[in-house]
Amino acid sequence: MACFDMHNHILFGIDDGASLEEISHSMVAEAAAQGITHLVCTPHFDHEYEQVKTDCMERLQVLQSQAPQSLTLLLGLEVYLTSKLPQLFDNERIWTLNNSRYMLIELPMRRFPEYTFDVLAELIKRGVTPIIAHPERNQQLREQPVLAQQLAELGCRFQLNSSSIVGRHGDGIQQIAQQFLKLGLYSCLGSDAHNESTRPIIMQEAKQVIDSDTFAYFMNQSEKIVRDEPIELCAYRAPIAKKQSLFAKLFKK
Ligand SMILES: [Fe+2]
Repeated sequence: MACFDMHNHILFGIDDGASLEEISHSMVAEAAAQGITHLVCTPHFDHEYEQVKTDCMERLQVLQSQAPQSLTLLLGLEVYLTSKLPQLFDNERIWTLNNSRYMLIELPMRRFPEYTFDVLAELIKRGVTPIIAHPERNQQLREQPVLAQQLAELGCRFQLNSSSIVGRHGDGIQQIAQQFLKLGLYSCLGSDAHNESTRPIIMQEAKQVIDSDTFAYFMNQSEKIVRDEPIELCAYRAPIAKKQSLFAKLFKK
């Protein structure tokens, strides 16, 4: 079965991912060893790092030329949400996953800016389908999962970090990732690997904790994403918050 890593900072020297070419080559070997057959390179595009597509492609080709035959590298981008995204898209400064309709978009970790829905709607109007990177890592989505439902209703899809589901970002993030997973929020999986040590490629370990049907579903949807084919809508519904009784409110510890 094809195995897709949809989010990875493997390209050397262009963001806070692999700092040296040797590190990228080691990560390529590790990806192949873990059975990954397709790896989408998604360097950051944000206030700190702006990318030029030709530079990214050059690095990708260097890595691909020395990669095992079983592994195909594809180009994507992890685009940080700002109000300027529609303009950046119009000016061809940002791009999608393997030139498809799908764009990987990162929300701020702690905030949910008020322009979020408007910006994403503008991109959708332009034919882009946003894929929200690791929603379980966004504090506002953890606290108000109804926001994730509203994003899904707008037409967004969601990518799970393998590091979150295996607990590398702590219990709180792991638990919400498990809940999102159970309720069908995610369409695909990515390692979000940055290096070999502190943020390594995790695929086999994630495969052990995600049920096999869901894992196969992620791979099937990922294949469609990179081929620019339509994927399933996200049918996630946020759990209804239980109302506290007056008694519980009065005697809350
Ligand atoms: Fe990332």
